[in-house]
Formats: sequence, C-alpha cells, structure tokens
Amino acid sequence: MVPRIFYFLQLLTLFAITFASTEEATALLKWKATFQNKNNSLSASWKLSTDACRGCSLVSSPAIGNLTNLVYLDLSINQITGSIPITLRDLIELKILYLHSNQLSGLIPSELGNLENVNDMELSHNNLTSSIPTTLDDLTELKILYLNSNQLSGLIPSELGNLENLNDMELSHNNLTSSIPTTLGQLPEHLCQGGKLENFTMNSNKLTGPIPSGLKKCSSLKFVRFNNYSFTGNLSEAFGIHPELQFIDLSNKDFHGELNNNWRKCKNLIDLRVARNNIGGSITPEIGNFKGLLGVDLLSNHLIGLILKEFRKLRSLVNLFLQNNRISGNIPEELGY
Ligand SMILES: *[C@@H]1O[C@H](CO)[C@@H](O)[C@H](O)[C@H]1NC(C)=O
Ligand SMILES: *[C@@H]1O[C@H](CO)[C@@H](O)[C@H](O)[C@H]1NC(C)=O
Ligand SMILES: *[C@@H]1O[C@H](CO)[C@@H](O)[C@H](O)[C@H]1NC(C)=O
Ligand SMILES: *[C@@H]1O[C@H](CO)[C@@H](O)[C@H](O)[C@H]1NC(C)=O
Ligand SMILES: *[C@@H]1O[C@H](CO)[C@@H](O)[C@H](O)[C@H]1NC(C)=O
Ligand SMILES: *[C@@H]1O[C@H](CO)[C@@H](O)[C@H](O)[C@H]1NC(C)=O
Ligand SMILES: *[C@@H]1O[C@H](CO)[C@@H](O)[C@H](O)[C@H]1NC(C)=O
Repeated sequence: MVPRIFYFLQLLTLFAITFASTEEATALLKWKATFQNKNNSLSASWKLSTDACRGCSLVSSPAIGNLTNLVYLDLSINQITGSIPITLRDLIELKILYLHSNQLSGLIPSELGNLENVNDMELSHNNLTSSIPTTLDDLTELKILYLNSNQLSGLIPSELGNLENLNDMELSHNNLTSSIPTTLGQLPEHLCQGGKLENFTMNSNKLTGPIPSGLKKCSSLKFVRFNNYSFTGNLSEAFGIHPELQFIDLSNKDFHGELNNNWRKCKNLIDLRVARNNIGGSITPEIGNFKGLLGVDLLSNHLIGLILKEFRKLRSLVNLFLQNNRISGNIPEELGY
C-alpha cells in the first residue's frame, strides 16, 4: 500500500497558505514527528522555516482538535492504530474525512455527529466495533458514508434514514444484525424519498428478514450489493423500478419468484447477479435489450426454458453463468456472437 500521507501533506501545503494560528502549526509539526515514514520530499519541506509559520512563536500543545480550520483530512491507507479521537468533533469546518484503511479500533465516537459540514466520511477497512452511532443523522450534508469492512454490530440505526442527501452508503462486511426487520425495512424508504441514493451495499453482514420493501421505491439506485444477506421472499414482488440500475448482486439468498417485468426497465444494466437462489421461470427475449451487459450470473436457480437467440445482441458480454438450472434445448448458434 502506498502511504497516503502524501495527500495529507499536499493538503497542508494548501492549508499553510491560510494558516490562522500558531496552535495549528504546532499541532501539525508535533503530529509530523510521529510519522514513521519521515523520508519523503513533502515531509522534508514541511518545517517551521517555511512561509506559513514565519514569525510564529509556537508554544501550545498540539492536538488534532486544534486544527479547527481544516476542511479536508485524508489519513487513509496508513497504519494508524488506536481509536478515533473524540477531539475530531472540533473540526467543524471539515467537509472530507478519510480515515479508511488503517487499523483503527474501538467505537465510532458519537461526537462525529458534530461535524455538520462533512459531506464525505470514509471509515471503512478498519477494526471499528460497537454500533453505528445514531448521532450520524446530524450530518445533514453527508453524501458519502463508508463504514464497510469493520466489525460493527447492532442494528442499522433508523436515524440514518434522515440523511436525505446520501448518494452512497456502504455498510458491507460488518457484523450488523437486525432483530426488527420492519425497522430495517423502512430505512431505505426514508433514504429513497429524495431520490438520491445511488449506491447501497449491505452484503456480508448478519442481517436477516425480508428484502426492505422501501427499496422498491428507490428509483435512483445504480449499484446495489445485498448478496450474502439472509433475505428471503418473492423477488417478483420485491423488485421495483430502478431505471438507473447498473449493478445488482442478490446472490446467495433464498429468493423465490421470477425475474419480473420490472427488470426490463433497467436499461443501463451492466452486471446482474442473482446466483444461488430459487428463481424460477424462464429467461425472456427482453434479455436482448440490455445491450451493455457485461455479466449475467444466474447459476444455481430453477430456471427453465431455452437459451434464447436474443443473447446474440449482448455483444459486450464477458461472463454468462447459467449452469445448475433446468434449462433445456440446444445451445443456440447465436451465442457465438
Ligand atoms: C531516503 O530517501 C533517499 C532518496 O530517495 C534514499 O537515498 C535513502 O536511502 C532513503 N532513506 C531511508 C532510510 O529510507
Ligand atoms: C489546542 O489543544 C489543546 C488540547 O486540547 C488545548 O489545551 C488548547 O487550548 C488548544 N488551543 C487552541 C488555540 O484551541
Ligand atoms: C481487529 O480486532 C481483532 C479482534 O479484537 C483482532 O484480533 C485483530 O488483530 C484486529 N485487527 C487489526 C488489523 O487491528
Ligand atoms: C459477530 O457476531 C457474532 C454472532 O452474531 C459474534 O459471535 C461475534 O463475536 C461478533 N463479532 C464481533 C467482532 O462483534
Ligand atoms: C457508486 O459506485 C460506483 C462503482 O463503485 C462508483 O463508480 C460511483 O462513483 C459511486 N457513486 C457514488 C455516488 O458514490
Ligand atoms: C458469501 O457466502 C458464501 C457462502 O457462504 C461464501 O463462500 C462467500 O465467500 C461469501 N461472499 C462474501 C463476499 O462474503
Ligand atoms: C411471486 O409473486 C408473484 C407476483 O405476485 C406471483 O405471481 C408468484 O406466484 C409468486 N411466486 C411464488 C413462488 O410465490
């Protein structure tokens, strides 16, 4: 992994131009002293003699909370351990917070709810535990929330449904549970009211229950991963109208039903994965309308019927998995296209 500390240092160069206080400078230098990789050109140029700090008498004790003018903080892809400092709450100008891909542990401080200007918060790929704080619903500017690949547990707080600007929420690969499926079911509906949620992943958790009914109304969805989520139910009924949809993975579940008519309206579909379910019915000629399809994975279902000659229209297709179904007939010549 390439140390992303460079980005932070670039930011500091910018930040230095508008340096406001000696405390901020001291805090940064003290922090710099703790970097294990001290041998890069940016780090070398970051010292008191540079313009930003000229004439400063640096005295106070440093702390991240002193950087109250900071707008952009990127410490991702490093080896930072320990917990997320509560003093982050003081960075009230912060718009971007990247702490992903470190070894942070402990809980997500509820104080992060204070960062009301943040629109992109990425805490993924750490070792964060405990539940998602309900205070995150105060982050009304939030567009991107990545909490994936941690060890978060508990319920997905229904308060997250208040984040009406959310475009992208990734909660996959955690230990999230739900004993109240109805609460969970309502969540996407809240999120979808503004029609802004594009990316939504919840795969590889310990969630159970029916597919959230509110998702049917999420017409803005583009990229959806719910695989390895112990959803059950009739897919014909659960699947709504998602004209923007590009990627959907609903594999490894217990869905029955069929690929219903709404699939036809997904004109931008690139990748369809509904493997290892109990989907019946046959593949209809409309499959030929999905001209951008790169991948179709319907393996291990109960599909019947023929492999249609309409597959010839899928000139971009790279992966086609139909094995372990009840498909019959010949392999059509058109598949050669
Ligand atoms: C630091 O960087 C210089 C120039 O790239 C290199 O010659 C030197 O070996 C590096 N030192 C360490 C300790 O990595
Ligand atoms: C900087 O942070 C320290 C520790 O939190 C605090 O004592 C000090 O007052 C802060 N300075 C400013 C200017 O906020
Ligand atoms: C994450 O936490 C688990 C359990 O506490 C621990 O075994 C593991 O070493 C931690 N991983 C990292 C990268 O800190
Ligand atoms: C994840 O959940 C399982 C059971 O649901 C539990 O045994 C395990 O300790 C949890 N892991 C963490 C890191 O919370
Ligand atoms: C959604 O995910 C795709 C694929 O990972 C990415 O290219 C796109 O930028 C994401 N959209 C948003 C709004 O974050
Ligand atoms: C999903 O579950 C299957 C079967 O339990 C497992 O083999 C696979 O690794 C899981 N995939 C992910 C992305 O967790
Ligand atoms: C699934 O739902 C559709 C539409 O309501 C219905 O026609 C079909 O019989 C259902 N399939 C099963 C297996 O319940």
